[in-house]
Amino acid sequence: MTASPGFPTARPRRLRRTPALRRLVADVRVRPADLVLPLFVKEGIAEPHPISSMPGVVQHTRDSLRKAAAEAVGAGVGGLILFGVPEVKDARGSGADDADGIVQVALADVLAEVGDDLVVMTDLCLDEYTDHGHCGLLTPSGEVDNDATLGRYAAAAVAQARAGSQVVAPSGMMDGQVAAIRSALDRAGFSTLPVLAYSAKYASAFYGPFREAAECAPQFGDRAGYQQDAGRASAEGVREALLDVAEGADAVMVKPAGPYLDVLHAVAEAVDVPVAAYQVSGEYAMVEAAAAQGWIDRRRVVLEQLTGIRRAGAGMVLTYWATEAAAWLDEL
Ligand code: PBG
Repeated sequence: MTASPGFPTARPRRLRRTPALRRLVADVRVRPADLVLPLFVKEGIAEPHPISSMPGVVQHTRDSLRKAAAEAVGAGVGGLILFGVPEVKDARGSGADDADGIVQVALADVLAEVGDDLVVMTDLCLDEYTDHGHCGLLTPSGEVDNDATLGRYAAAAVAQARAGSQVVAPSGMMDGQVAAIRSALDRAGFSTLPVLAYSAKYASAFYGPFREAAECAPQFGDRAGYQQDAGRASAEGVREALLDVAEGADAVMVKPAGPYLDVLHAVAEAVDVPVAAYQVSGEYAMVEAAAAQGWIDRRRVVLEQLTGIRRAGAGMVLTYWATEAAAWLDEL
């Protein structure tokens, strides 16, 4: 199109000309305080243990976990979420609600280190703790028993609350889990403790590296019987989020982030509570792998993805790059 003089031509490029103009008109910003860092802590190890499919991410010792938490605080990160990897697993996932379980003891360490400088959350599920690797108790025929599992989640929530968790985040996708956890917390005297529900969580191949990190790959079958199916329309994700809000969720999550931005957007439009998105292990691994080959600009790709996730509607973003990205954002 040629701009003819005297004719008011649309020129969207006018506001793109300089960095200062672009910064001024930007609608979406990512701030360090929007980011939440997932951290793995493993029981009984003397040194941090690298996760081969997630370069730069480790299973922490209790000591290195404290340091990682302090670094996150230093970078201005908004929160962290703890995942425990126990030494011993069993069919009922006993470590999940044991007062001496790894997450419960690690919470005390982290809180001693960071206090209230960021929000210390705990993932609440059984898969890291069960010997079969599923997110719930099994029936004799090997199916995940929804209602029997709810009692285990309730017990884990109370154990995490007693250990000082500041937000519990149920990720197991059992129907009714938020209501069960909420009422157990209230009965135990933790009515002020918020629940961040992994509401729209899809059965995703993007969790592959996490299962190495958390040592929780299912020993048989998969999670498609309880996690959502990628082929359903985003309305199903909205339904899950609304159910969780009705059950008392204080905030909801969509997971993974990148392949489910439509769901994220629909959920953000539908609910009036804060919305989180989880940029998961496979999303991290793909960028790291391509960057290591020199095929993409790692920093720009990470920031572009975080911006896209925020633009789709996430208030907070769980990302393994939280500490590093927070430092980059401070420089912008
Ligand atoms: C289940 C849980 C999973 C993740 C977070 N919580 C794995 C799963 O559902 O199989 C995945 C996170 C990631 O891939 O980064 N407790």
